Amino acid sequence: MEVKGSVALVTGGAQGLGLAIARRLADDGAIVVVADRNEDALANLPQGLECVTMDVTDPEQVKEVVAGIMESHGRLDILVNNAGVIFSEPFVNVMTPAGIMHDYGRFRASLTVNLDSVFIVTAAVVEHMVKRRTKGAIVNISSISACGNEGQTAYSVAKAGVNAMTVTWSKELGRWGIRTNAVAPGFIGTDSTRHALSETALKHIQGNTPLRRLGQDEEVAQAVIALVENDFINGTVLDVNGGLRI
Ligand SMILES: NC(=O)c1ccc[n+]([C@@H]2O[C@H](COP(=O)([O-])OP(=O)(O)OC[C@H]3O[C@@H](n4cnc5c(N)ncnc54)[C@H](O)[C@@H]3O)[C@@H](O)[C@H]2O)c1
Repeated sequence: MEVKGSVALVTGGAQGLGLAIARRLADDGAIVVVADRNEDALANLPQGLECVTMDVTDPEQVKEVVAGIMESHGRLDILVNNAGVIFSEPFVNVMTPAGIMHDYGRFRASLTVNLDSVFIVTAAVVEHMVKRRTKGAIVNISSISACGNEGQTAYSVAKAGVNAMTVTWSKELGRWGIRTNAVAPGFIGTDSTRHALSETALKHIQGNTPLRRLGQDEEVAQAVIALVENDFINGTVLDVNGGLRI
């Protein structure tokens, strides 16, 4: 699919990887709508990006926003499901005697924001694509944690689910010309990574990465563009992790 002239929706695009992806799509000539729940960050978006407040976990709000894009732009060609929250909690933590096991409420909350959201937004977008018989490219942002990262039960499960939905939808939606792929970043040098991990942990990760560095947000954006542009890639989870295995 040609990026130039297409209409793209990037969730969680007000900062971090989503913003890098939105910028790159816009630089390549797409009309880009950034949907995020962070209104302060949306207010500071660079020029050239449209913005809309949306909570990806709220099905009714998502339907309204997608219908609004259809009304103003006539179509939606590209969906990047990027919104998510990196979350770490060990399954057992003996240092918290009040409750040594992973909290179930936090497990569910992580699944809602990282997994259910991808279902909710994609369902709202694909309904329009199928009814209007327009082709589309969906790119889900997964994670290296999908293979099961120590200390991240909920987040790993959510991202493994994202990978499974990617492959399932590639099989179900291909007949309508809708391709579904995912990008699974390793450790990227974003603010969220630096908040989530100590300096020591980051050094350890870099030491274990064959390329001996963190990734850059532009490198994730570049992978998204490749998946959008290549019309025969469908059902792929593309690792962007410098060769790191966890
Ligand atoms: N940064 C990394 O190294 C890394 C690695 C692997 C995967 N990822 C994934 O990449 C994606 C982006 O991560 P990031 O590091 O840029 O994070 P980030 O926290 O910098 O950005 C996430 C964005 O999503 C938005 N968001 C969160 N919950 C939302 C909701 N319910 N509704 C609407 N918007 C919501 C936030 O407001 C924020 O703008 C996530 O899916 C994350 O799991 C990141």
